[in-house]
Amino acid sequence: MRFDIITIFPRLFDSVLSAGVLGKALEKGLVEVSVHDLRDFTEDRHRQVDDRPFGGKPGMVLKPEPIFAAVEKVREDTNVSVCLLSPQGRRFDFRVAEELARMSQIILICGRYEGVDERVNRYLATDEISIGDYVLSGGEPAALVIIDAVSRLIPNVIGKTESVKHESFFEGLYDYPQYTRPRDFRGMQVPEVLFSGDHEKIARWRRKKSFEKTTQFRMDLLEERNLSPADLKMLDEIHRKKEGKTDESD
Ligand code: ADE
Repeated sequence: MRFDIITIFPRLFDSVLSAGVLGKALEKGLVEVSVHDLRDFTEDRHRQVDDRPFGGKPGMVLKPEPIFAAVEKVREDTNVSVCLLSPQGRRFDFRVAEELARMSQIILICGRYEGVDERVNRYLATDEISIGDYVLSGGEPAALVIIDAVSRLIPNVIGKTESVKHESFFEGLYDYPQYTRPRDFRGMQVPEVLFSGDHEKIARWRRKKSFEKTTQFRMDLLEERNLSPADLKMLDEIHRKKEGKTDESD
C-alpha cells in the first residue's frame, strides 16, 4: 500500500509519520508514504500555487496546473484512488477506510485556503472525502487521519490481527471499557466481574457495556445491525435500566 500526499506544507508530516504503529509499519515496509510539495510542480518564478477566484469573492483558490502535474507524476497504473480532501466530500468512516484499504495506491490532495479549482474534482480526483462536518484550515490533518485509519487495516500493521478484529467498528459497536492495575485507584474500583474468572460472564458484561455506550451516543449504529434475540434482550435490559425499572448497578 502506497500513500502519496500532495501538500503545500510537506514538513508538517515529518514527526507524525515516524511515530507509533504507523512509524513501525513504514519501517517494516508494510506501508509507504511519500510527501510531495505542491510548489515543486509549479513552473513560474514565484512558485505560485493559488490565485484569486473568478467571479469575485475574497480569498484564494488552489490552481489546477500544479495539482494535475503532481498527480500525473506520482500516479501508478492500477487500483489507484485519487482523493481530494475537502469538507464537501463523502464522510470518512470505517467502511470507507475498508474500501480504501483494498487499493494499492492512495493519492491524497490536501486542499487549502478558500478552495480548490473545481476541475481538480471533476476531471482528476476519483474520490472526495471529508473527515467530518467542520472546516479545517487545510486537508493535511485529514490526510493523516485517513493514512492512520487505513494503515491499521493492512495485514501485519497491527501486532495481532485479533486486535483489529476486536476493534469496535469492525462490528459496528462502540468498544467496551478496559481496566488495568491498580484494582483500586483512589477508591475508584475496577468492576468485580473482571476478576470472576468466568469468561462467559465477562464476555456478556463486555457486550452489554458496548451496547450501553453505543445506545448513549450512536443509536444509528445499532439500527443498522441485524440484532440477535440475545442482543435484543440485552438492549431491552439497558432500556429498562435507563428508565429505572431495574436496580442493577455497574
Ligand atoms: N479540508 C478542510 N476541512 C476538511 C474536512 N473536514 N475534511 C477533509 N478535508 C478538509
